[in-house]
Amino acid sequence: MFGQNIGIDLGTEKITAFVEGRGIVLSEANAIAYDNYNNETYAIGNAAGEMAEKTPDALTVKKPITGGVISDFSVMSEILAHYITKLCGKKIFRPNVIISAPSSITKLERKTVIEAACAAGAGKVSVIDEPVISALGAGLSIDHPHGTMVIDLGAGTTDIAIITMGTVAYAASLKIAGDTMDEAIQQYIKREKNINIGTVTAKKLKHTVGCAYKRSEEIEIEATGKNYVTGMPEIFNISSTEIYEALKDQINIIFEAVVDVMEQAPPELYSDICHEGILLTGGVAKLPGLDKEFSSRLGIKIKRAADPEHCAAKGAGYILRNMKAMEDHGYSFRMKESINGI
Ligand SMILES: Nc1ncnc2c1ncn2[C@@H]1O[C@H](COP(=O)(O)OP(=O)(O)OP(=O)(O)O)[C@@H](O)[C@H]1O
Ligand SMILES: [Mg+2]
Repeated sequence: MFGQNIGIDLGTEKITAFVEGRGIVLSEANAIAYDNYNNETYAIGNAAGEMAEKTPDALTVKKPITGGVISDFSVMSEILAHYITKLCGKKIFRPNVIISAPSSITKLERKTVIEAACAAGAGKVSVIDEPVISALGAGLSIDHPHGTMVIDLGAGTTDIAIITMGTVAYAASLKIAGDTMDEAIQQYIKREKNINIGTVTAKKLKHTVGCAYKRSEEIEIEATGKNYVTGMPEIFNISSTEIYEALKDQINIIFEAVVDVMEQAPPELYSDICHEGILLTGGVAKLPGLDKEFSSRLGIKIKRAADPEHCAAKGAGYILRNMKAMEDHGYSFRMKESINGI
């Protein structure tokens, strides 16, 4: 092996990388902090992510992807360049790079991601839809005429897709996902308790007492916020039932979208899905009870992928090993010179 080929999952919350022969080597916040006085980069990755909502005037934290959409290409290019160089060093042979990108990405955006990766030191690049790559990362075989349904629940988007012969046949991409769940928790606590909490606290509540169903045995946690009326700090208790109440509308919207996508499928694909079940990937798949809730409402088996947050990066690893088979399904590496032909 002359060069080291890498797979990168460009997520709203995380950037995760897989290196051929080494596995997952990086999982960092997809964020960058700039020094406002000289416009220089101050921190990249987790160090920058931890500063969000806590920066002094001297620093600004930026994220290249918001709501599953690439919102700042120059920030994305800088982060890609930083990690490609860190992972591969300055090798004579440029690495081939597989990038998992939001499924709503346009042709032009796809081209720009490839250009950014090439400028960052990549040799050949391929951008692959997140549901396809996540299904491969979860170990599903998707290259035959057989319907596979995947729901990738990330921070910025929930991508619902029916895949057959390596390609997305029916799909929906919703902006209802981990980040909007955090907002829903913030709004609920403001409305019900007159307390403002930050997104870090909301996320912590979602991870610790969040659930997609009403737990028979309630659990409770203590949290700190700022009283909306007095402006003073306040310590309060919040239960799993309250977080369930805060999240249930969002879970219903996702459920309805799953039903919509299933309804579009022709009978043969539909029956494959009923037989095989639906795969959940992405970090929000870890929300307790989401699998059971969907399963009881749809009457279909729902499987949560092992290590759901890393499915996309692992899928990139699979593609690096099986590029020839992927090419048969219309995916291909692009070099900078061939980008104009996209
Ligand atoms: N135990 C948990 N319960 C609920 N949500 C969780 C849990 N663990 C992680 N999450 C959520 O998963 C989301 C991150 O998932 P993931 O890493 O798949 O997103 P991403 O790939 O960065 O985003 P996207 O694919 O939308 O661009 C965050 O919203 C995080 O809070
Ligand atoms: Mg993702």
